[in-house]
Amino acid sequence: MSEGPILQGFVVSRRAADEAEILTITVAPARRGNGLATALLGSHISRLTALGVASLFLEVDENNKPALALYRRFGFAQVGRRPAYYSSADGSKANALILKLEL
Ligand SMILES: CC(C)(COP(=O)(O)OP(=O)(O)OC[C@H]1O[C@@H](n2cnc3c(N)ncnc32)[C@H](O)[C@@H]1OP(=O)(O)O)[C@@H](O)C(=O)NCCC(=O)NCCS
Repeated sequence: MSEGPILQGFVVSRRAADEAEILTITVAPARRGNGLATALLGSHISRLTALGVASLFLEVDENNKPALALYRRFGFAQVGRRPAYYSSADGSKANALILKLEL
């Protein structure tokens, strides 16, 4: 029996007036590093632009190198920082960067 299509990644955002926020973007671990998130985010930004979104925001752990590389590629700029925003299971804290892209 065929298992059918298997989800390899997705992006979720919410929109209000001409602003939107990316809530999450993720790619299956085995598929990372192949440009999938770049393709996902590119098509998502095109869709938001077509809907009239002018400003796109997101939060990211400042230690998340793959995510930061992804967002920099699209031209996101840092507009804020939340100290000790994320908590890890070991009790450590990480800062969140707030990024913005003008569409
Ligand atoms: C962030 C994530 C979505 C990237 O997905 P991906 O499909 O591997 O990304 P791409 O292959 O399109 O690569 C995007 C950029 O990340 C870089 N990258 C990918 N894996 C990397 C790694 N392990 N370390 C450093 N940079 C990495 C790529 O070189 C590329 O940068 P470039 O455009 O300067 O070449 C993926 O790592 C992921 O799902 N992480 C867990 C969830 C997460 O952290 N989401 C973001 C929350 S804000």
